[in-house]
Amino acid sequence: MDWGMKNRLSRIIKPPTGHAVMLAVDHGYFMGPTHKLEEPRKTIEPLLPYSDAIMCTRGVLRTSIDPKTSVPIVLRVSAGASVIGETLTNEATTTSFRDAIRLNAAAVALSIFVGTQHEHQTLKSLGQLVNLGEDYGIPVLAVTAVGKELEKRDARYLGLACRIAAEIGAHFVKTYYCEDFEKVVKGCPVPLVVAGGPKLETELDAFELAHNAIADGAIGVDMGRNIWQSEHPVAMITAIREIVHNGASVREAQQAFEEAKKTKTPVLAKTPIR
Ligand code: 5RP
Repeated sequence: MDWGMKNRLSRIIKPPTGHAVMLAVDHGYFMGPTHKLEEPRKTIEPLLPYSDAIMCTRGVLRTSIDPKTSVPIVLRVSAGASVIGETLTNEATTTSFRDAIRLNAAAVALSIFVGTQHEHQTLKSLGQLVNLGEDYGIPVLAVTAVGKELEKRDARYLGLACRIAAEIGAHFVKTYYCEDFEKVVKGCPVPLVVAGGPKLETELDAFELAHNAIADGAIGVDMGRNIWQSEHPVAMITAIREIVHNGASVREAQQAFEEAKKTKTPVLAKTPIR
C-alpha cells in the first residue's frame, strides 16, 4: 500500500488502537430528513469532537460541516434510490472522483447489493471506484448494504458480500453484526466496521452490539441512528468510544454513558482521536 493510501487510512483507523469510531450521517441520501437528522448541522456539530471520521454525502458536507474541521471525511459517492421507490438496490456512482478529491475526502464509500438484480452494476461500480482510489491513493469503503428485499443478515450472506468487496479491492468494508460474526471477519482480508442499524430498544443493546463486534474482530463501528437518535447522543458516542478504543465491557460502557450524561461536554476517552 502506498504512503498516501496508508496515511489516509490511518487518519480514520487510529494507529494507537487500530480501531475507529466513524459517525454515519449519510442516511438522507435515500431516507430524506430522517428523525433527528432533519437539520444535519445541529446533529453533527456536537458529535464532531468525538468522531474519528464522518461518513456523509457531498450535499451534507458542503452545507452542514465546517470546512475548518480536522475530522476526516468518508464521502458517500453512491446513490440513486429512495425508501419510497421500487427498490433500494438500484444505485450508481453519483459523485465523481474529481469532486471527492476537491472535497479532500479521506476515503470514499459506495454500497454494493450482492444477491440482488443490481449486483452486477454495483460490483462494477466498486471496481471502477477502487481503480480510481488506487490511482489517487484514496481508500474505498464498500458498504454491504441490505435492500428491502434482502432481510437476511446472516454470516453466510454477509461473509459472501464482504469477501467479494475485498476481492474487488475495497480497502475496508462496512457490514452488519450478526450471529457467528467471527466467520465474516475470518473470510474478509481487509478491516471491517459495523453499522448499528435501526435504533435498538435500549442503549445497552447498542453497547452489546459494538462490544460483540469488536470482540469478534471488527476494527470499529460506522454507527448512525443508535448514536444521534439517542436522547443523549454525546454520551452515547463517548460510551461507544470506550468500547471501541479502550476495551470497555458493556457494563463499563453503561457506566461511562451514565457519567457522560451528567456532563455537558464529556471528557474524551483516554485514547487521543487526532
Ligand atoms: C446505509 C449506510 C448507513 O450509513 C448505515 O446504515 C449506518 O448507519 P446506522 O448505524 O444508522 O445503520 O451506509 O447504507
